[in-house]
Amino acid sequence: MPRYRLLVNGRRHDVETEEDTSLLWVLRESLGLTGPKYGCGVGVCGACTSHVDGEAHRPCVVTAAESEGRHVTTIEGLSPRGQHAVQRAWRELDVAQCGYCQPGQIMAAAALLAREPDPDDDAIAAALRDNVCRCGTYPRILAAVRHAAG
Ligand code: FES
Repeated sequence: MPRYRLLVNGRRHDVETEEDTSLLWVLRESLGLTGPKYGCGVGVCGACTSHVDGEAHRPCVVTAAESEGRHVTTIEGLSPRGQHAVQRAWRELDVAQCGYCQPGQIMAAAALLAREPDPDDDAIAAALRDNVCRCGTYPRILAAVRHAAG
Protein backbone atom coordinates (compact mmCIF):
# COMPACT_ATOMS: atom_id res chain seq x y z
CA MET A 1 0.00 0.00 0.00
CA PRO A 2 1.24 3.53 -0.67
CA ARG A 3 2.35 5.75 2.20
CA TYR A 4 1.39 9.38 2.61
CA ARG A 5 2.92 12.10 4.75
CA LEU A 6 0.18 14.15 6.31
CA LEU A 7 0.33 17.22 8.52
CA VAL A 8 -2.61 17.10 10.88
CA ASN A 9 -3.14 19.43 13.83
CA GLY A 10 0.49 20.50 13.58
CA ARG A 11 1.91 16.96 13.71
CA ARG A 12 3.40 14.90 10.90
CA HIS A 13 1.99 11.44 10.28
CA ASP A 14 3.10 8.69 7.90
CA VAL A 15 -0.03 6.85 6.87
CA GLU A 16 -0.24 3.68 4.83
CA THR A 17 -3.52 3.42 3.00
CA GLU A 18 -5.12 2.73 -0.37
CA GLU A 19 -4.83 5.52 -2.92
CA ASP A 20 -8.56 6.25 -2.95
CA THR A 21 -9.10 6.23 0.83
CA SER A 22 -10.80 9.42 1.92
CA LEU A 23 -9.05 11.80 4.25
CA LEU A 24 -12.02 11.43 6.61
CA TRP A 25 -11.35 7.73 6.97
CA VAL A 26 -7.65 8.32 7.58
CA LEU A 27 -8.43 10.93 10.25
CA ARG A 28 -10.95 8.74 12.04
CA GLU A 29 -9.56 5.23 11.58
CA SER A 30 -5.79 5.71 11.28
CA LEU A 31 -5.24 8.76 13.46
CA GLY A 32 -8.09 8.31 15.95
CA LEU A 33 -9.45 11.80 15.36
CA THR A 34 -13.18 11.16 15.63
CA GLY A 35 -14.27 14.81 15.87
CA PRO A 36 -15.00 14.95 12.13
CA LYS A 37 -18.17 12.89 11.75
CA TYR A 38 -19.33 10.66 8.95
CA GLY A 39 -22.77 11.72 7.76
CA CYS A 40 -23.30 11.42 4.02
CA GLY A 41 -19.83 10.58 2.71
CA VAL A 42 -20.43 12.60 -0.45
CA GLY A 43 -19.70 16.17 0.62
CA VAL A 44 -23.31 17.22 1.18
CA CYS A 45 -24.08 17.28 4.92
CA GLY A 46 -21.03 19.03 6.40
CA ALA A 47 -20.68 16.71 9.42
CA CYS A 48 -17.03 16.06 8.57
CA THR A 49 -16.07 19.71 8.01
CA SER A 50 -12.44 20.36 8.92
CA HIS A 51 -9.86 22.89 7.73
CA VAL A 52 -7.37 22.42 4.93
CA ASP A 53 -4.87 25.27 4.77
CA GLY A 54 -7.23 27.28 6.97
CA GLU A 55 -10.31 26.92 4.78
CA ALA A 56 -13.36 24.81 5.54
CA HIS A 57 -13.21 21.55 3.58
CA ARG A 58 -15.02 18.23 3.60
CA PRO A 59 -12.54 15.39 4.12
CA CYS A 60 -15.05 12.76 3.01
CA VAL A 61 -14.52 13.88 -0.60
CA VAL A 62 -10.74 14.43 -0.45
CA THR A 63 -8.26 11.57 -0.58
CA ALA A 64 -5.25 11.15 1.65
CA ALA A 65 -3.11 11.44 -1.48
CA GLU A 66 -4.62 14.84 -2.29
CA SER A 67 -3.96 16.00 1.26
CA GLU A 68 -0.20 15.57 1.21
CA GLY A 69 1.62 18.85 1.82
CA ARG A 70 -1.53 20.60 3.10
CA HIS A 71 -2.18 21.74 6.66
CA VAL A 72 -5.16 19.76 7.93
CA THR A 73 -6.92 20.84 11.11
CA THR A 74 -9.68 18.89 12.78
CA ILE A 75 -11.77 20.16 15.66
CA GLU A 76 -9.32 18.45 18.01
CA GLY A 77 -6.65 20.85 16.77
CA LEU A 78 -8.73 24.02 16.59
CA SER A 79 -7.50 25.30 19.95
CA PRO A 80 -5.95 23.91 23.11
CA ARG A 81 -8.70 22.65 25.45
CA GLY A 82 -11.57 23.93 23.33
CA GLN A 83 -10.94 27.62 23.98
CA HIS A 84 -11.54 28.98 20.48
CA ALA A 85 -14.08 31.84 20.59
CA VAL A 86 -16.54 29.75 18.58
CA GLN A 87 -16.25 26.80 20.97
CA ARG A 88 -16.75 29.08 23.98
CA ALA A 89 -19.81 30.66 22.36
CA TRP A 90 -21.21 27.18 21.61
CA ARG A 91 -20.93 26.26 25.29
CA GLU A 92 -22.23 29.58 26.60
CA LEU A 93 -25.32 29.45 24.37
CA ASP A 94 -25.78 25.69 24.86
CA VAL A 95 -26.08 25.19 21.10
CA ALA A 96 -25.86 21.42 20.73
CA GLN A 97 -28.81 19.08 20.94
CA CYS A 98 -27.74 15.59 19.81
CA GLY A 99 -24.34 17.05 18.94
CA TYR A 100 -23.49 14.94 15.91
CA CYS A 101 -23.17 17.77 13.38
CA GLN A 102 -21.70 20.29 15.80
CA PRO A 103 -17.95 19.76 15.18
CA GLY A 104 -18.60 20.44 11.50
CA GLN A 105 -20.73 23.49 12.32
CA ILE A 106 -18.02 24.85 14.62
CA MET A 107 -15.27 24.31 12.05
CA ALA A 108 -17.31 26.03 9.33
CA ALA A 109 -18.01 28.95 11.69
CA ALA A 110 -14.34 29.21 12.72
CA ALA A 111 -13.24 29.34 9.08
CA LEU A 112 -15.81 32.05 8.40
CA LEU A 113 -14.62 34.23 11.32
CA ALA A 114 -10.98 33.74 10.31
CA ARG A 115 -11.62 35.33 6.93
CA GLU A 116 -14.44 37.67 7.97
CA PRO A 117 -14.25 38.66 11.66
CA ASP A 118 -17.57 40.53 11.80
CA PRO A 119 -20.00 38.85 9.40
CA ASP A 120 -23.63 39.95 9.16
CA ASP A 121 -26.46 37.45 9.49
CA ASP A 122 -26.64 36.86 5.74
CA ALA A 123 -22.93 36.05 5.58
CA ILE A 124 -23.25 33.65 8.54
CA ALA A 125 -26.27 31.94 6.99
CA ALA A 126 -24.49 31.65 3.63
CA ALA A 127 -21.32 30.20 5.18
CA LEU A 128 -23.24 27.59 7.19
CA ARG A 129 -26.06 26.93 4.71
CA ASP A 130 -24.70 23.54 3.67
CA ASN A 131 -24.04 22.25 7.18
CA VAL A 132 -27.11 20.23 8.03
CA CYS A 133 -28.50 19.90 11.58
CA ARG A 134 -31.30 17.39 11.89
CA CYS A 135 -32.19 18.71 15.36
CA GLY A 136 -32.81 22.16 13.90
CA THR A 137 -30.43 24.10 16.14
CA TYR A 138 -29.97 26.74 13.43
CA PRO A 139 -31.22 29.73 15.50
CA ARG A 140 -28.74 28.91 18.30
CA ILE A 141 -25.95 28.35 15.76
CA LEU A 142 -26.60 31.76 14.25
CA ALA A 143 -26.68 33.39 17.69
CA ALA A 144 -23.46 31.65 18.75
CA VAL A 145 -21.56 32.77 15.66
CA ARG A 146 -22.76 36.35 16.30
CA HIS A 147 -21.69 35.99 19.95
CA ALA A 148 -18.23 34.67 18.94
CA ALA A 149 -17.80 37.53 16.49
CA GLY A 150 -18.79 40.12 19.07
FE1 FES B 1 -18.59 14.76 4.66
FE2 FES B 1 -21.28 14.61 4.81
S1 FES B 1 -19.79 13.28 5.69
S2 FES B 1 -20.09 16.21 3.97
